[in-house]
Amino acid sequence: MAKTRTQFVCQNCGTVHNRWAGKCDGCGEWNTIIEDDQMGGIGGGPGKVPKKGRAVALTTLSGETEEAPRIFTGISELDRATGGGFVRGSAVLIGGDPGIGKSTLLMQAAAALSRRGHRIIYVSGEEAVAQVRLRAQRLDAANTEVLLAAETNVEDILATISEGKRPDLVIIDSIQTLWSDTADSAPGTVTQVRTGVQAMIRYAKQTGAAMVLVGHVTKEGQIAGPRVVEHMVDAVLYFEGDRGHHYRILRTVKNRFGPTDEIGVFEMSDKGLREVSNPSELFLGERNAKSPGAAVFAGMEGTRPVLVEVQALVAQTSLGTPRRAVVGWDSSRLSMILAVLEAHCGVKLGQHDVYLNVAGGYRISEPAADLAVASALVSSLAGVALPADCVYFGEISLSGAVRPVSQTGQRLKEAEKLGFARAMLPVSSAEVPKGGNSRWTEIEDLPDLVSRIAGSARKLGKSSEDD
Ligand code: TYD
Ligand code: MG
Repeated sequence: MAKTRTQFVCQNCGTVHNRWAGKCDGCGEWNTIIEDDQMGGIGGGPGKVPKKGRAVALTTLSGETEEAPRIFTGISELDRATGGGFVRGSAVLIGGDPGIGKSTLLMQAAAALSRRGHRIIYVSGEEAVAQVRLRAQRLDAANTEVLLAAETNVEDILATISEGKRPDLVIIDSIQTLWSDTADSAPGTVTQVRTGVQAMIRYAKQTGAAMVLVGHVTKEGQIAGPRVVEHMVDAVLYFEGDRGHHYRILRTVKNRFGPTDEIGVFEMSDKGLREVSNPSELFLGERNAKSPGAAVFAGMEGTRPVLVEVQALVAQTSLGTPRRAVVGWDSSRLSMILAVLEAHCGVKLGQHDVYLNVAGGYRISEPAADLAVASALVSSLAGVALPADCVYFGEISLSGAVRPVSQTGQRLKEAEKLGFARAMLPVSSAEVPKGGNSRWTEIEDLPDLVSRIAGSARKLGKSSEDD
């Protein structure tokens, strides 16, 4: 027998609590728990006494599929991030901060798909039809056959998209505006968002249309974030970027049909998003190679190499406790490198403020950046610029040893392509081309690196010419 019971759900992570609390045990956020009626369909159990089940036809794994399973947009950075195009019958969640460019990206994708003869429906719950049209004109998408609706009610949306020929792709912008008659909670709550998303996913699976769901990353606790539906969808992409910079990265965090470490890089212009097929050129664009404290890191994003500049500033402190400020990298990793420099190389930074910045607002997550960071720090402290045509990569262990990293060959190839003749890399790196003309320097440990940089500083003192 169904009994009505209220529960308390965290709007940030979806954790269910028996009573209200100020802080959620699940995610540690404050003021995110609100009362929710459990009798509300998805996320709250069945709303009615369940009816007797209906048998569905069982089938086999091999079978005829008459259409291509994926639809390509032709926007190669987007196709790359989705793992080769949108998969029919699947649901993709695109999350990101408000204003980052999700609607812009999807409008451009819709236009591109429509030009390729696909039937695309764009459902906007945030903007009125006139606003979407205005944006479409700016993006040069107004002359396409994209079908548009401004609607937020789940039942009405389903009725609309079920009418006529089946669409190839449906875009719902955004999930936070969806509300269903079957759930009692207020729009924007976990229950409403999950109910709406569940209904859209069911539609996609039943009809074979691809479904793209937009979700805003929310800061205040009263509106459910995209994380509460991540487990329900087939793929999750996040659109990231720094508001102060004009480029954006589409990052795959979950994909049931492809790899999860791919990124797509875009640049925001006055005519919408432009693809950036060679990100290294963008991140190295405003480089000033002559100043001390800058090292170029040869990194990897999935299968693609990315070269980016790491900048360090080490300055005598006037404070009791020196400052450590990091942008674009892990601050505990910086503390570790500083400790290793101090313990094994005699580089004392206890009386210095240390600032570290990754150029262009890019974020590095690879430990392979350790060697580049250490080089930038030592270069800034010594006041000597590193060679302009050299890249750095390698992981540093607590003992001071430099450990090999993966995909050495690809990192070196990209560096060469962009005109870097030299590299400092770990010893015994696989795939290093052995030979006379190569200028790869194998670094055994951190003291080795420090003495090389300090050595070139001394040489610089005698003659003003770098070698
Ligand atoms: P939008 O796609 O509305 O963001 P989201 O849907 O993620 O909330 O993007 C809005 C921002 O993009 C806005 O600050 C203006 C900028 N923009 C451009 O710079 N050029 C353009 O052509 C468009 C359409 C938007
Ligand atoms: Mg939007």
